[in-house]
Amino acid sequence: MIDPDRVHNVVADRSNDVAAAMTELDRRVFLPPEQHARAAENRPLPIGHGQTNSQPSTVAAMLCLLQVPIGARALDVGAGSGWTTALLARLVGPDGSVLGLELEPDLAEQGARNLAAWPLPWASVELASRQSLGRPVGGGYDRILVSATAQELPGELVDQLAPESRMVLPIRHTLWLVERHGDEIERSPHGSYLFVPLR
Ligand SMILES: C[S@@+](CC[C@H](N)C(=O)[O-])C[C@H]1O[C@@H](n2cnc3c(N)ncnc32)[C@H](O)[C@@H]1O
Repeated sequence: MIDPDRVHNVVADRSNDVAAAMTELDRRVFLPPEQHARAAENRPLPIGHGQTNSQPSTVAAMLCLLQVPIGARALDVGAGSGWTTALLARLVGPDGSVLGLELEPDLAEQGARNLAAWPLPWASVELASRQSLGRPVGGGYDRILVSATAQELPGELVDQLAPESRMVLPIRHTLWLVERHGDEIERSPHGSYLFVPLR
């Protein structure tokens, strides 16, 4: 049951807001200088350490599927360049919060620097733990975005979902929407994509 006090659980189509956020938060600013000239290409681009900034059409598909409500508490697993963390921050607005987690220390630093260039103080990029996936928080996250592919649905992240919540993640080559309604977990497949592995 949706808690009426947590209006940010309400699901709504935010495709137009996703498009606006992607226009405003220029991908170029999140890329290493040698990739700037390619920022407009609809393809994944290298950000160092064998990792990539995801293809814009894939990011748009994931964010539309996630249906991020204003005021939500969001977790961004695989923050990389910080771009998806910034996009989520724009979607949740100042009443929400976004924690971006990145496993690669250099990228976590770079992502945090890139994010700091924007007035989005309710979001941060931090170093992920090598011992555990995500970062549990009281009450759970309203939305979880995962930008690296898992071999199976990670129970650790399902456990970090709030009672009414959504997670979008790749599992092997398929993008999945996971919806939590209390004790019920529903999953639906949403097309084929290629991602770097979740480690
Ligand atoms: C497709 S890339 C990053 C895309 C990123 N969202 C962006 O906007 O640039 C996926 C990232 O997930 C990171 N990653 C892999 N396993 C992870 C884990 N367990 N926790 C956090 N980050 C992880 C990789 O280091 C990589 O930077």
